[in-house]
Amino acid sequence: MGLELIRNPSLAERTTLGLGGVAEVEAVLHEAADLDALSEFLTRETLRPFVIGQGSNLLAHDGHLDMALIRTATPPGPTRVEKSGSKLLVRCGAGQRLPGLLGWAQRAGLSGLENLTGIPGSVGGAVAMNAGSYGTEFGELISRVRLWSPMQGLVWMDADQCTFGYRHFSCPAVPGKSLVWEVELALIEMNPKSVRSGMRAAYAKKRETQPVTARSAGCVFKNPEGASAGMLLDKAGMKGRRLGHMAFSDIHANFLVNLGGGTAAQALELIDTARKAVREKFDTTLEAEVIIL
Ligand code: EPU
Repeated sequence: MGLELIRNPSLAERTTLGLGGVAEVEAVLHEAADLDALSEFLTRETLRPFVIGQGSNLLAHDGHLDMALIRTATPPGPTRVEKSGSKLLVRCGAGQRLPGLLGWAQRAGLSGLENLTGIPGSVGGAVAMNAGSYGTEFGELISRVRLWSPMQGLVWMDADQCTFGYRHFSCPAVPGKSLVWEVELALIEMNPKSVRSGMRAAYAKKRETQPVTARSAGCVFKNPEGASAGMLLDKAGMKGRRLGHMAFSDIHANFLVNLGGGTAAQALELIDTARKAVREKFDTTLEAEVIIL
């Protein structure tokens, strides 16, 4: 169908936090052939491009945003590729939802992703943020990642050519802005029932400590070295703190939740208040994990 262009896309409809204004345009990629059209589009447009994924780690400003959103439509797959030693290589498009990949892995009897149960977002976003939970980071399961940039086109990069850090991914051989197109994961063949019980256990743990069904963008701040931002925010009195229709969750103080009708202005003011409270009490400046558009 070619590169799809959607005018005035609503950020509130495209983010799990459910707030924010309207961007100028959204370019939706349906297949690899659309990347050439994306390249032309980016040359033509002077707007700020941003790859949006499933919008689960984003806080978008209210009003009009002078931006071009880029999204990869849900691709077919995932697919099994081949055995590699004791592992099975699996290929998955970046536009796939992470929970969709996990569901497929469970049915296929492939282990490795269990601890990531309950993380929303796209597979591309999980690469770009090196999503992690309960000791597993997405990056450690990756054997190769296929990146696209206007200068280099599509290139496969081995995991050891990439840098995966705490909520960080980069690839020095593809400098500048790039888009994750596809990923190859190395998973372990296992009984589907065992994979399912691992996923259930991780989800149960998550549900006890995080507001998994609320409208949120996950943790707002990164954990500072050797500490939990949630604990610092809690001790600084931010748990349950409300402003308008936004609040820090009363289950976990590092989750900002939209109670319904919340605005970016309210969210940003709460973030500011929280940062000041933690700085005053602990002399620590929290760094945002959520991407502010
Ligand atoms: N804690 C409090 N009060 C709170 C929240 C937490 O006292 O309001 C305490 C807990 O009792 C615990 C400690 O802080 O002793 C750590 O809490 P938790 O186990 O919930 O982990 P976290 O450090 O707050 C991190 C990640 C989460 C990830 C969990 C589980 C960050 C910023 N957060 O949370 O990731 O799901 O570990 O692995 O790295 C995310 O990145 O969006 C995210 C949610």
